[in-house]
Amino acid sequence: MKRMIDTTIITHMKAGLKTFLAKRVLIKNYKRDANSIAKYSFLNRNRTINSSIAFILYSVHSIEKGLTNNSFRYGFGRSAIIQTIKALKQYESRGFSRENSTYISALSILRSYVDHHKSHNKEIGFPELYNFLDEREDIKIMQQPVCKKIFFEKGNTFRSFIDFASTRHSIRDYSDSKFDYSKINNSIRDANKVSPSSCNRRPWEIIVVRSEKLLKDIVAIQGGLRGFGKNTSAIICIMVSSYALTHKYERHEGFVNAGIFGMNLMYSLHDHGIASCPLNASMSSKHEKKLRRLLGIGEDLMFGMFISVGNYKELNHATISPVKEEILRWL
Ligand SMILES: Cc1cc2nc3c(=O)[nH]c(=O)nc-3n(C[C@H](O)[C@H](O)[C@H](O)COP(=O)(O)O)c2cc1C
Repeated sequence: MKRMIDTTIITHMKAGLKTFLAKRVLIKNYKRDANSIAKYSFLNRNRTINSSIAFILYSVHSIEKGLTNNSFRYGFGRSAIIQTIKALKQYESRGFSRENSTYISALSILRSYVDHHKSHNKEIGFPELYNFLDEREDIKIMQQPVCKKIFFEKGNTFRSFIDFASTRHSIRDYSDSKFDYSKINNSIRDANKVSPSSCNRRPWEIIVVRSEKLLKDIVAIQGGLRGFGKNTSAIICIMVSSYALTHKYERHEGFVNAGIFGMNLMYSLHDHGIASCPLNASMSSKHEKKLRRLLGIGEDLMFGMFISVGNYKELNHATISPVKEEILRWL
């Protein structure tokens, strides 16, 4: 009897020790990620070519986004422009190539901003911007426009992946026509069916928010749709279930899987005739806590990403979004 009790205690202790050690590894791995981010992200002011390009893309994006805004605000985005100029100057001061596609796209966007105001006879009084561009007049910018108008046509037939995929764009404002919510069910069903996942675990869980009050709260907390989001019919929250993650090395697995599902879902929504925009779910712990409370979920669900959805308008605006081309290395 005593031996049996001893064995049970030892088994329990062993299991407890194993769990304790696994948790320690988990925390250590998070620290490793944190160190990597601290070392290579924007937190490190000593920029490499990669972080300089990331900083340019990050800074200029809100300007090109603003250029697609239906309710265009003349003179918008002064602080974003100042930050972009700073990012470009930093890039130049490091001696990086002025033929780099991201560098040229960012200059093109700044010039489009000026041209757009000029063509509408709007004086924005921004000598810092004018001087910056004048001093770089010799740099050949992209000739194509930085944003385009897209007419959504129903019944498109697509010959290839690229034909289909290149007709999807992030659409942030929607039509006020009646929205068919059953299409969201069908899109989620299809995306769920075709999405690959680690060991076929499908670690994502989906919450669709359509209550007006909750939509407002999410948009305010998420923050990435400021000035946009007209007639949003729903926001789809792609959550990662910790329950689906098995071992101490799966720090990113759930998020990678959620991203794959999210992309398929956007294509699926597009295929069902629904316009969408992916939205980041990178929030402070305070915001996460608030949102958890509003959605009625516990900490077993982690935030992967959000997708706003609505009906396409007849005429939609989307960014061209400069494509960073230097992504491939063959070994
Ligand atoms: C994970 C993720 C998060 C994003 N978050 C936001 C956001 O918070 N606000 C926003 O307006 N766009 C957001 N976007 C949309 C990007 O700006 C957009 O995908 C990019 O500019 C390329 O444009 P396209 O989707 O039309 O090809 C996000 C995209 C992804 C993939």
